[in-house]
Amino acid sequence: MSPMTPQEVIQNLGDLPPLPQVAARAIRISADSDTSSKQLQNLIRTDQALSAQLLRVANSAMFGRMREVATLTEAILTLGFSTARSVVIASSVKNLYNRGPANLKERILWEHALATAITGSAFSRSMRFSVTEEVFLAGLMHDIGKSAMVLKFPESYIALLRRIQEEGGDGLNMELDTFGFDHSMVGEALLRSWNLSEGIEATVRWHHEPLQAPPEHRRVVALVALGNQVAIDLQIGLGSPDSLAGATWEAMDILQLDDGTYQEHRIGALEALERDRALITDF
Ligand SMILES: [Fe+2]
Ligand SMILES: [Fe+2]
Repeated sequence: MSPMTPQEVIQNLGDLPPLPQVAARAIRISADSDTSSKQLQNLIRTDQALSAQLLRVANSAMFGRMREVATLTEAILTLGFSTARSVVIASSVKNLYNRGPANLKERILWEHALATAITGSAFSRSMRFSVTEEVFLAGLMHDIGKSAMVLKFPESYIALLRRIQEEGGDGLNMELDTFGFDHSMVGEALLRSWNLSEGIEATVRWHHEPLQAPPEHRRVVALVALGNQVAIDLQIGLGSPDSLAGATWEAMDILQLDDGTYQEHRIGALEALERDRALITDF
């Protein structure tokens, strides 16, 4: 019998974790409906931890309130609908990233995802693109394939992550050598089963090779790739910064950034991360 192709292996992974209900419902609430805030409130109210989280974020230093925000209605008003919705989605996706990896630096996969979301969306904002919220979500999800691999191959994949944590290196190639496929391919299979936006799916699949993404999604993918690089440069995540050089170069090409302009936007992204640090540590 001939060995299975990576695609066949991935088709045979069996049950993949579902997208958390709350995230799935939050993603479906559209920003431009009159009742959207009300719908979001009703959804948040079903989950006490989530209500508390949203109030914490609304009261965090970043939004520098003079007076305490005490109700969900006020919290959504303070944050704005889109940010509030992103907090809801982030908080339910967090549980997926945090499941499983014992003996790893605590919460490293999750902190990496959130840092990538914050810095990627900061790049988008500073370049005045209209895809900022999608970049935030795509950044949150980009390495979700790693969580699926933690669940599917608890021993061998966690051993590999620990090796990367201790020795650095090019995680993607190490995955390919060990498994014959990598987290971007597993992530794509997972995202197909979740049926989210095509932009997020393209990001999960192509964030290490942005030029391979379909043209209409390249910009989102490229912005997340830049966020990924910044997060790894700051060691919020696993792997060596050098291993992302190719992806970053492709992202700069897509966004038509020269070195100088890239550095200017990068400073803005670092500032955004500094400002939102509290968000990462208390999330
Ligand atoms: Fe990745
Ligand atoms: Fe990443």
